[in-house]
Amino acid sequence: SVSDIPVITIDGPTASGKGTLADEVAHALGYAVLDSGALYRAAGLAASRVGVDLDDGEAVAAVARGMELRFAKGRVFLAGEDISDELRLEVSGLRASQVAAHPPVRRVLNQLQLDFRRPPGLVADGRDMGTDVFPDAALKVFLTASAATRAERRHKQLIAKGISANIEGLRQDLEARDARDKTRSASPLHPAQDALMLDNSAQTIDESVAQVLEWWQKRRPFK
Ligand code: DC
Repeated sequence: SVSDIPVITIDGPTASGKGTLADEVAHALGYAVLDSGALYRAAGLAASRVGVDLDDGEAVAAVARGMELRFAKGRVFLAGEDISDELRLEVSGLRASQVAAHPPVRRVLNQLQLDFRRPPGLVADGRDMGTDVFPDAALKVFLTASAATRAERRHKQLIAKGISANIEGLRQDLEARDARDKTRSASPLHPAQDALMLDNSAQTIDESVAQVLEWWQKRRPFK
């Protein structure tokens, strides 16, 4: 049954490195990966394209329900169009955070997220993977990094892409988004009571991956 398929959840704030960590852990274990933030980003993008008010939860949920989304080889397609690059833009993150506050939108996307649980296993990253969507996950990681570290990483990524950015402005944006994600009433960002805390401020990606794999060796329900 589906509850026999192991799940590792990685939750945490904006730009904490969840996506990279989830990808690498999934790769090491041969598991599928779910970037749940991409679903919220896609819902915000799809709704804004058809001119739906992002504060209208029922209307956004209806758009989200009708989305023809496909994930393949690390890319995301909406009705056949590769929207991966557009999803990474700051504006897509802000829209995602806005639509994610609506319970009807969360209900639609939670259903889609459950479908990613397939053998041999799943690594799911987001805000509420361990608290709401996969409460029975065998390993729950809550990833944190200081706001300064996260702003610095985001800054480096943008510079590498040739986009100029201001560290202080980035830091303010991500703190504002964190505040919204933590204080909303629908599934606010908080660690599951059985989550293991991982602060990666002073860690390389390889060190974080090694830590999660070590925990998994001890925690995995079957060998
Ligand atoms: O992880 P991300 O930056 O791609 O997420 C974008 C926004 O989507 C984030 O600000 C909050 C929302 N989100 C959420 O509410 N629940 C999730 N499981 C994933 C993302």
